[in-house]
Amino acid sequence: MANIVVVGTQWGDEGKGKVVDLLADRAQVVVRFQGGNNAGHTMVVEGRTFISHLIPSGILQNKACYIGNGVVVDPEVLLDEMESLRKMGVSVTPENLGISERAHLIMPFHKALDIARETARGAGKIGTTGRGIGPCYEDKAGRRGLRFVDLMDFETFSRQARQVCEEKNFVLTGYFQAPAVDADAMIRSFSDFAERLAPHVTDVSSALDRATAEGKTILFEGAQGTHLDIDHGTYPFVTSSNTVAGNVCAGCGVGPGSVHGVLGIVKAYTTRVGKGPFPTELHDEVGDRIQERGAEFGATTGRRRRCGWLDLVLLSASKRLNGLTGLAVTKLDVLTGLPEVKICTAYRLNGKEIQRFPANLTDLAACEPVYETWPGWEGDLSGVREFDRLPENARNYLRRLEELAGAPLKIVSVGPGRDETIVLENPLTNP
Ligand code: GDP
Ligand code: IMO
Ligand code: MG
Repeated sequence: MANIVVVGTQWGDEGKGKVVDLLADRAQVVVRFQGGNNAGHTMVVEGRTFISHLIPSGILQNKACYIGNGVVVDPEVLLDEMESLRKMGVSVTPENLGISERAHLIMPFHKALDIARETARGAGKIGTTGRGIGPCYEDKAGRRGLRFVDLMDFETFSRQARQVCEEKNFVLTGYFQAPAVDADAMIRSFSDFAERLAPHVTDVSSALDRATAEGKTILFEGAQGTHLDIDHGTYPFVTSSNTVAGNVCAGCGVGPGSVHGVLGIVKAYTTRVGKGPFPTELHDEVGDRIQERGAEFGATTGRRRRCGWLDLVLLSASKRLNGLTGLAVTKLDVLTGLPEVKICTAYRLNGKEIQRFPANLTDLAACEPVYETWPGWEGDLSGVREFDRLPENARNYLRRLEELAGAPLKIVSVGPGRDETIVLENPLTNP
């Protein structure tokens, strides 16, 4: 069996949670390697919906789940998530949930700064999730971050946390005219978090090494999407981590040889939440219809997602940036009933057709999509389990997508439920 990375190929919310939950059936270990609780991964099993922000989506299949060192963790959110899973009857124990001792902690001042910065940016805001992700990664790179391993030595942690908090409060109150964070209250709550999370804190890199030696199969669960990557995305309208598959190694402490395949999750159309350029965005009733039929509201912030046609310029870049070895197309059912569907195959910039995704945002904003138009299809797809049973026009759309993307189609999702899926080829057996 192969170790697979699951990555979003667009701007997030492609359905990674659903696909990871499905594939976890045949894996033994599931690991998150970047991002934090800006993620919202939805799994629908037997009519019940679970949304995970930090805990890997293998938890419902009771697999060994790990939060790698590359993840930034808000301990309060993690504890709430553990509790709500338990209330739904899902077992969460130190045996099935490990947190890297090297993972950085999102502190209350990170959240306060995220919100204060966004407010100060006004119209130019990024549209972050307000979860403190950017400020936490800033402190990590600035070598003043606080990690789980620090939390386990509470006296030193308190001293360091107070020191960093003092600097942040200076900026919060002096520069942003925002309220200061109460350092005493912060230390008290972190003392409680430390006690409750201690049994889960572990050396994830070594745990993965052992799992490999025992012949176990690992699924690496990406968060966000390729075009939210801090280096390769639509900077500055991106998140603060590398979301591409290459970050698996740094983000959980494995070598490149541990990755055998990269499955790109592709929504059958495109969505984006937050600000930033989006060439195929629809501002008409078709966009509204996709938004409604697809129930496109953020799983983390509840914000309405912007919707548009499938963009192959974007997807081709994702194929290259991640080295995709396979594709899983989700939400095909949402396009059912449209008289026609469009695929953007190039952009027109200053009268010229280009196939490359421009790095310059002014250029990107000026790009007009060049579309191919394909006939739509009718009928309820949710019960279809074989590719050949899909309406002919839906198959043609998928085959064209596959041809343009240059990676083989492995999975088609036709509904939110775990079983509402067509598996053409299991990436774990054939990456
Ligand atoms: P993630 O962040 O990539 O895990 O995706 P989200 O969970 O944020 O958003 C995907 C949404 O689409 C969730 O509400 C899923 O339940 C839903 N979903 C996933 N696959 C399908 C599908 O094939 N059809 C439909 N209709 N909904 C789907
Ligand atoms: P999943 O894993 C969609 C977006 C935010 C904002 C930008 C920066 O569910 O696909 P941040 O809080 O990270 O500093 O926000 O990134 N964003 C996401 N959009 N899905 C996500 O995660 C996202 N995580 C962050 O909306 O535009
Ligand atoms: Mg999501």
